[in-house]
Amino acid sequence: MTLYQQVFENNKKWVEGKLSNDKNYFQNLAAGQEPEFLYIGCSDSRVTAEEIMGLAPGQVFIHRNIANLVVNSDLNVMAVINYAVRYLKVKHIIVCGHYNCGGVKAAMIPRDMGILNPWLRNIRDVYRLHKDELNAITEESKRYNRLVELNVQEQCINIIKTAAVQQSYAQHKFPTVHGWVFDIAHGKLIDLNIDFGKALKDIQAIYNLTEKTE
Ligand code: CO
Repeated sequence: MTLYQQVFENNKKWVEGKLSNDKNYFQNLAAGQEPEFLYIGCSDSRVTAEEIMGLAPGQVFIHRNIANLVVNSDLNVMAVINYAVRYLKVKHIIVCGHYNCGGVKAAMIPRDMGILNPWLRNIRDVYRLHKDELNAITEESKRYNRLVELNVQEQCINIIKTAAVQQSYAQHKFPTVHGWVFDIAHGKLIDLNIDFGKALKDIQAIYNLTEKTE
């Protein structure tokens, strides 16, 4: 049996397993979703959102792309954030980066990478914003890890710049935005402990979108 065929065998066993625990499992799943989390992570096959969080279907709304970027002109991620905040009313938004991220690594190599250029430029912009700190790190692997962390931090800030998040927070005191890094080599989730209150205040000094125009 090929791995492709195995997938459908796996699925059969999974359905049986779920039903043996709870015969209404799929009926309940089909009834609707009320996830508490929006997770924005990397497309990397090693970083599986629900599995590393120990959560089940229905608990996490997910968006993944190369290097977990939140780009203002990316209709996809902006639609996901808007829907998750305004309609699903998620309580937490997580940006999860990871060490050994190929996207971040590629951004550190100064070379023409075709269609990846405009995408990686967002990470190169993070490097430019933090170049003094990064250039002071002599060991390349440490500089690479730090760029992974700073990239997460900047994407959290991009989320805080959205009208959906600012308006929801002003009204309900949620969602809060968190930055995490998944340390692949040890399997650990690291919370970067971003100070959401301070970040929101700093951002709103320039990008305050809580008021709508008439
Ligand atoms: Co990655």
